[in-house]
Amino acid sequence: MKTQKLTLTLPGKKVEYFLGENLLPVLPKFFKKTNTPAKILIIADSFVHKLYGKQIEKIFKSSGHHPEFVLISPGESSKNLNQIKNLYEKFCQLKISRNTSVAALGGGVMTDLVSFAASTFMRGLPLILIPTTLLAQADAAVGGKTGINLKQGKNLVGSFYHPELVLLDIQFLRTLSQKEIRNGMAEIIKMSLLEGEKGFQALEKASEEIQTCGRKASEEWSKKIRPYLYAAVRKKISIVEKDPYEKNERMILNLGHTFAHGIEAAGEYKTYSHGEAVAIGLVGACLLGEKIEKFPPEQTRRVEKLLSKIHLPIRYKKLNPIQVFDQMALDKKKTETIRFILPKTIGKVVICDKIAAAQVLDTLQMLKED
Ligand SMILES: NC(=O)c1ccc[n+]([C@@H]2O[C@H](COP(=O)([O-])OP(=O)(O)OC[C@H]3O[C@@H](n4cnc5c(N)ncnc54)[C@H](O)[C@@H]3O)[C@@H](O)[C@H]2O)c1
Ligand SMILES: [Zn+2]
Repeated sequence: MKTQKLTLTLPGKKVEYFLGENLLPVLPKFFKKTNTPAKILIIADSFVHKLYGKQIEKIFKSSGHHPEFVLISPGESSKNLNQIKNLYEKFCQLKISRNTSVAALGGGVMTDLVSFAASTFMRGLPLILIPTTLLAQADAAVGGKTGINLKQGKNLVGSFYHPELVLLDIQFLRTLSQKEIRNGMAEIIKMSLLEGEKGFQALEKASEEIQTCGRKASEEWSKKIRPYLYAAVRKKISIVEKDPYEKNERMILNLGHTFAHGIEAAGEYKTYSHGEAVAIGLVGACLLGEKIEKFPPEQTRRVEKLLSKIHLPIRYKKLNPIQVFDQMALDKKKTETIRFILPKTIGKVVICDKIAAAQVLDTLQMLKED
């Protein structure tokens, strides 16, 4: 299948997204066409580097490029100020300036961290994203949000900064674990709920063949997931274009995330992964949507069925609903009340700021597995 191109158009900037297989050889052509500096520094998740570093180096060398690599330990704990300081020091040591492209190679941790460093060093270096997890390809590498964590909270420091180019290369998906696939699938399902009946039905129909079996993904599976990844990226781009700085419309991307953040935090980020919490959170949004926005209960059942088919949880165990509620209240940003994105129907959501605590608690009780 041919490489597909999507463009995110912003005032004064166009970001190109290429989706396909074995895309790295397009980089030299892209550099030439767009005047993006061909001198490149690749900041990579060290695990991803172990899997793909040699192959990447070979591709670059065959086109006359000699990339430098900086390796970062995998995991959320690398998304911190100390790593940013290390990166700035490395940039100085390597005499990086605006005529060097900086590339992030890895999952969402790498794209968030490197994008933040690139956005702030010398007030902005040319940036290329090469996301390697399904979650990063479908979500984190799309839309220009950068972020690092403080001990007081996740993603508290960040900026809006767009790359020149994003390579969504499905070859990387073949080595993902089941856990990482499920994390990405939760966001793809969320995006299909925002997209509408057509997109959601397509996923329902495909659920049998894209539900992942075995310990790891496969080449065959990575090809099957491609149209749904494409649909998710296209949908996110269309939302971001309408509201690049998350003042309004873009908030709908948080569908399921108010419950999810509460569930993740109540489990101290150990009990549930982000994708698992999002899956439960999507069901929470449907159940609360039933109460507040007359979301049809049969649509909630369809959402539950699809999530279960993909081996994602639809109820939480062990956690205490009051604890989850407290975490949701702590997490509230900007407004005094907790903000929810609630579905009215598949494909239509509303932003709700004023929901009685009792309704939320009631939903949290329903979300707990007996
Ligand atoms: N900026 C945004 O809009 C946005 C949106 C969603 C999530 N995020 C951020 O993304 C992060 C989560 O991203 P993630 O789930 O990709 O996590 P991650 O970057 O930690 O990657 C998950 C794991 O997968 C491994 N990995 C990466 N690519 C691989 C591959 N091809 N094969 C095998 N293993 C591979 C990594 O080494 C890591 O252990 C969070 O920090 C979150 O805040 C940002
Ligand atoms: Zn998410």
